[in-house]
Amino acid sequence: MYLHGTSKINEQGHLEIGGNDVTKLAAEFGTPLYIVDEALVRQRAREYVEAFNASGLKFQVAYASKAFCVMAMCALAEEEGMSLDVVSDGELHTALQAGFPVERIHFHGNNKTVDEINMALDANIGCFVVDNFIELDLLNELAGAKGKRVKILLRITPGVEAHTHDYISTGQQDSKFGFDLGNGSAYRAIQEGLKLNHLEILGVHSHIGSQIFEVEGFRMAVDKVTAFAVQVRDELGLTFQVVNLGGGFGIRYTDEDKPLPLGEYVKAITDAIISNFTHAGYPLPEIWVEPGRSIVGDAGTTLYTVGTSKDIPGIRKYIAVDGGMTDNPRPALYESKYDAILANRANEPVSETVSVAGKCCESGDMLIWDLELPAVHKDDLLAVFCTGAYNYAMASNYNRIRRPAVVFVKDGQADLVVKRESFENIVGNDLIPSRLKKTSVGN
Ligand code: LLP
Repeated sequence: MYLHGTSKINEQGHLEIGGNDVTKLAAEFGTPLYIVDEALVRQRAREYVEAFNASGLKFQVAYASKAFCVMAMCALAEEEGMSLDVVSDGELHTALQAGFPVERIHFHGNNKTVDEINMALDANIGCFVVDNFIELDLLNELAGAKGKRVKILLRITPGVEAHTHDYISTGQQDSKFGFDLGNGSAYRAIQEGLKLNHLEILGVHSHIGSQIFEVEGFRMAVDKVTAFAVQVRDELGLTFQVVNLGGGFGIRYTDEDKPLPLGEYVKAITDAIISNFTHAGYPLPEIWVEPGRSIVGDAGTTLYTVGTSKDIPGIRKYIAVDGGMTDNPRPALYESKYDAILANRANEPVSETVSVAGKCCESGDMLIWDLELPAVHKDDLLAVFCTGAYNYAMASNYNRIRRPAVVFVKDGQADLVVKRESFENIVGNDLIPSRLKKTSVGN
């Protein structure tokens, strides 16, 4: 059993996170429940900051809020000195409502609407990451209408695609995101951008993938970005002040995953930047990264109550929990693997292999296949680990299931940061046209 962060098994054989016995959390807040180990989030953020400090480079660590965007998380990111990457008006609104410092907000997205751009302009956010030619002109026009000049990065597709283990040098060309480096789009974007009075190009952005376990892809991206930076300086007279290398740093979901310590990814990037740019006689740029999963992923645990089970002798035993693909769509979407324990009897020896099903009306609603557990009974608590990233963020109301609550735990304290959805939330936006209304039931 691999326990992350402050998680441990206490004398009663119960899982404890942030000094809280999860059986008590279940009693107080109900299940399913997302539990976030605040100390582990802070530790991950600090691992990045320390590694960058060691490099001597100027930097920003922008938390990619898409991984888990709620107001308390924005507040935590702020406290840890991080910047924030948002990709929609909803994420931007969350950050603004949380009072996140606007100059540290970076706005991403491949199809920002006029309303979204205006909202971000009015908020005076720090930087727009421009994705395409239409946005380049639109942003210039909208900024101009407000008499503003805004800082931008151009998102480039560097032609490095990281599939966790293998790297394909040109595959990434076929992407919906960014200006392609290989076919000259990125170069033309800089040329165009330099003509636009309301935009200030700080540099470029590159993101090569997610859940990456090796540094080679990042090194390749730095090589491509350096060559581009030199070409742009020499031919167009623009010196990049900022290079943003995106996110994608992998985490350990199960024994199969072998991520590097976060500092090693940073060191590989900063070493490559320092060596390449120094070699090119280029002033060292400020380096930005955008980790999402590696900030919150392993700090999250989802606590479920076991309900029914179905034993098919010689084939498989299913156990069903009170959540599923609505709170964690990743196994159904990506065949993602998770590890879990019986949180109320964690010290008991393993004695059966079960597959964990959700409660949605769908055969694909499975959370974990073939999990080894002590004999499972109805009302046991199942804790699924590493659900901090892209779980709550991707949760849905399929089958009109209410989204779970989220608690932050630390030093024996547990604070509700998102309430469990209510039935009112479920029907709150529904309207019945008068022609469908009956005067009273039965008429
Ligand atoms: N920056 C950009 C431009 C991105 O597109 C992403 C993720 C990140 C940063 C953060 O990447 P991270 O450090 O979290 O790997 N829903 C999928 C992951 C989608 C990632 C999308 N972009 C999942 O559940 O695995």
